[in-house]
Amino acid sequence: MELRSSQWYAGEDRNAYIHRAWMRRGAPDDSFRGRPQIAIANTASDLTPCNAHLTGVAQFVKNGILEAGGVPQELPVVSLGETNVRPTAMLWRNMAAMSTEEMLRANPVDGVVLLGGCDKTIPSLLMAAASVDIPAVVVPGGPMLNGTFRGAPLGCGTGVWKLSEEVRAGTLSQEDFARSESAMIRSAGHCNTMGTASTMALVAEALGTIVPGIAGTPASDARLSEAAQLTGRLAVDLVKEGRTPSTFLTKGSFHNAIVALAAIGGSTNAVVHLLAIAGRLGIELSVEDFDRIGSHVPLLVDLQPAGRHLMEDLFRAGGLLAVLRQVKDLLDPEALTITGKPLVDYLDDAEIFDPEVISVRETPVQDDAGIALLRGNLAPDGAIIKPAAATPELLQHRGRALVFDSIEDFHERIDDPDLEVDADSVMILRGCGPKGYPGMPEVSNMPLPTKLLEQGVRDMVRICDGRMSGTAYGTVVLHVAPEAAAGGPLGLVRTGDWIVLDVAGRRLDVELSAEELAAREPSAAMTGAFAAPTRGWERLYVDHVQQADTGADLDFLVGASGSEVARESH
Ligand code: FES
Repeated sequence: MELRSSQWYAGEDRNAYIHRAWMRRGAPDDSFRGRPQIAIANTASDLTPCNAHLTGVAQFVKNGILEAGGVPQELPVVSLGETNVRPTAMLWRNMAAMSTEEMLRANPVDGVVLLGGCDKTIPSLLMAAASVDIPAVVVPGGPMLNGTFRGAPLGCGTGVWKLSEEVRAGTLSQEDFARSESAMIRSAGHCNTMGTASTMALVAEALGTIVPGIAGTPASDARLSEAAQLTGRLAVDLVKEGRTPSTFLTKGSFHNAIVALAAIGGSTNAVVHLLAIAGRLGIELSVEDFDRIGSHVPLLVDLQPAGRHLMEDLFRAGGLLAVLRQVKDLLDPEALTITGKPLVDYLDDAEIFDPEVISVRETPVQDDAGIALLRGNLAPDGAIIKPAAATPELLQHRGRALVFDSIEDFHERIDDPDLEVDADSVMILRGCGPKGYPGMPEVSNMPLPTKLLEQGVRDMVRICDGRMSGTAYGTVVLHVAPEAAAGGPLGLVRTGDWIVLDVAGRRLDVELSAEELAAREPSAAMTGAFAAPTRGWERLYVDHVQQADTGADLDFLVGASGSEVARESH
C-alpha cells in the first residue's frame, strides 16, 4: 500500500528530512515509515460550547488509532457555535468546509476522523471530506443530558422559544425565565432536542458516515468514549482498504438519510446540508427528492420540538437503529456504511425499549412526516415546510400578507399596538436568504405579535427566505427560492396581498397575475437593507453563494478536487 503521506515522509532527500524532522519531537522513526497518518479534525472550541468537550473525545480516538498501528495528528479546524456566531453560523459553513478541505489536502495525512456536534460542524466536515476524498469517518459529539424545569423536560432551544413567548404573554416571570438557563444546559454536548445538531448526527449515521449505533450517544456517556476509540481503530483500516467517501456514498445513501430524516422528524436545515454534501460528491440530489422520498415516511419519534421527549430518551429507547428497523423496507438495501456493510445489516437486532419515545410502524406518531416542497408564483424554485411541526388547520390557509422588509423592520413594528394584524394574517419576512442577510439566518419562525399572544394565538402562517432553527416549531414556510435579494417574487409582495398556502397541493401563491407581479418594483426599504459587503469572506460569499434549493454552497466549491498536491513546499 502506497500511503499518501509517503509523498512527504518517504526517502532520504532533504525534503523528506524536513518533513520528518519537524514532526519527530519524540516520535520514533517508524512513525514515518509506512504507518497511516490519521488527522483528527477537531471542532473543539471554548466559543463553541456544544463542542468544547471534543478534545477529550479526541484522546480516545488517538488511543484507537495508535492501537491499530496508525499515527494520530490532531488538526484544530474552524468551529462554529450556533448561539454565538454572528450574523449567523450558516454564513461560515462553507468557509469552515473550504478551510478544512484545504488543510486536509495540504498536509501529510492519509485519513481523517471528523469530530463535530453543533449544527454546522458535521455538515462542514463532511463537505470537506467529500471534496478532498480521503478516508473519513465521523464521531458525533453527542447531545447534552435532559434538562428539567419545574418538573417538566426542558429542551435546548425549544424551551427558549416557548418560555420567552410565555414571558411576553405574561404567564412566566422574568426571574423564573432567567432561572431556567442553567436547568436547560446541564452537561457537555449539543442541543438535546431534535434540532439540527441531533438531526445531522443521526442523518450522518443513516448516510453511512458514522459507525452504526453511535449517533445520539450522550456526550457525557462512557459509551461515546468507547465508540471514539473503536472509530480511531477503524480509521486506520479505512486507509488500508482505500475506503474514501466517493467509493461508498451513493444516491442510495442519501435516500436512506432522507428516510431517516422523516422518521425522526428531523430539522429542515438537513435539506440544505444534505444537498451541499451531495453536491461535493457529484451526486444528483434535488430538493424534490426530500418530498418524494420522505413525505410518506411515518414519524416514529416523539421528540421536542414537535413532541415530548429529548435525545437522552431516544438513546435509551433504542436509538436510530431501532427507528430504522421499523422502516427497513423503505431503505436502500445496497447503500453501504463506513464499515463496508450495508446499513440494513445493522437493523435486525435493533429493539425498541420505550414505545413512548419510539413508535412501531403500525402506530406512528404521525402518518406522513418529512418535508413538503412547495412551489408557486411566490416560490418558483421552491420553498419547504415541515408539516409535523405545524398547526394542522393552518396547512391550508388564505390570508392577507403583513410584510416586513428586514429583521430590523420586524423588530421595530411587531409589538406596535396599532399594527394591523390578526390571527389570519400571513407574516412575511424577506431579505433573509443566503445573499440578502447574508448567510440565511434562522429568523423565519418570527415571534408572534404580543397583542395576539395575549389573545391566546400561538401559531400563524409565516413565510421567509431564511431558515428556522431545528429546535423551533410552527406553520413556517422556509427557504423560499429565489430569495428576495436574488430577484425572487417574495420581494414584490405588499402588505394586504392575498396569500394562499396549500400544503396538500404543494402550492404557495400570491393572488396576483404574472403581469401584476411584473409591473411591480421592489421597495427601496427592502433593497436598502440587503447586505452589500465590500471585502473579505462576506464579499466572496455574496458574490458566489447559490440558492437554498441547491444547498447554498459557493458555486466554485461544488464538486471535488481530490487529494493530489502537485508541488513541494521547498
Ligand atoms: Fe449547538 Fe444547539 S447551539 S447544537
